[in-house]
Amino acid sequence: MGSTSILSSVVRRLEGKVALITGGASGIGECTAKLFAQHGARVVVVDIQDDKGHSLCADLGPAVASYVHCDVTIEADVKHAVDTAVSLHGKLDIMFNNAGVVDDLSSGFLNCEKSAFEKVVAVNVLGAYLGTKHAARVMAPARAGSIVTRRARRR
Ligand SMILES: NC(=O)c1ccc[n+]([C@@H]2O[C@H](COP(=O)([O-])OP(=O)(O)OC[C@H]3O[C@@H](n4cnc5c(N)ncnc54)[C@H](O)[C@@H]3O)[C@@H](O)[C@H]2O)c1
Repeated sequence: MGSTSILSSVVRRLEGKVALITGGASGIGECTAKLFAQHGARVVVVDIQDDKGHSLCADLGPAVASYVHCDVTIEADVKHAVDTAVSLHGKLDIMFNNAGVVDDLSSGFLNCEKSAFEKVVAVNVLGAYLGTKHAARVMAPARAGSIVTRRARRR
């Protein structure tokens, strides 16, 4: 295999794959959606920032990217997002539990309100649990799929 064909197979390493990216409208999720699309994947971007999500998917093109409104703390939303990916593309190969928040804890541990802590846990922990649960629901029968969960970080 020549160097060009090796490069081609590396560059398109997600050809034919279907990926759902939570929190995909901005930041790390947006970059991931663009990178996955470059590598040949079809991406389902889900977020609560509908304008940004629709704009990103319009840029990537309707054959490559679809946007679904989904609050990852609401199980019905997550179920709907996963079911939409399967109904659009027939399968789900990659689930990226990327949605996350940190800013509410930026005032420090001792000043952190219980409600702010609950919001971070809801998005970062409950959201990852619901994403994993509903991705596994469709991946397990297919005996294939990858679930990736981003680790939260204090700023
Ligand atoms: N592990 C690491 O090294 C590392 C590095 C950088 C950032 N992070 C973490 O990544 C997270 C986000 O980083 P970012 O820079 O991409 O931030 P960001 O704010 O740009 O992106 C987060 C996305 O999640 C979405 N989101 C928030 N709540 C949601 C909800 N309930 N349902 C659906 N989507 C929701 C936001 O709308 C946004 O699009 C943070 O939690 C941060 O701690 C981790």
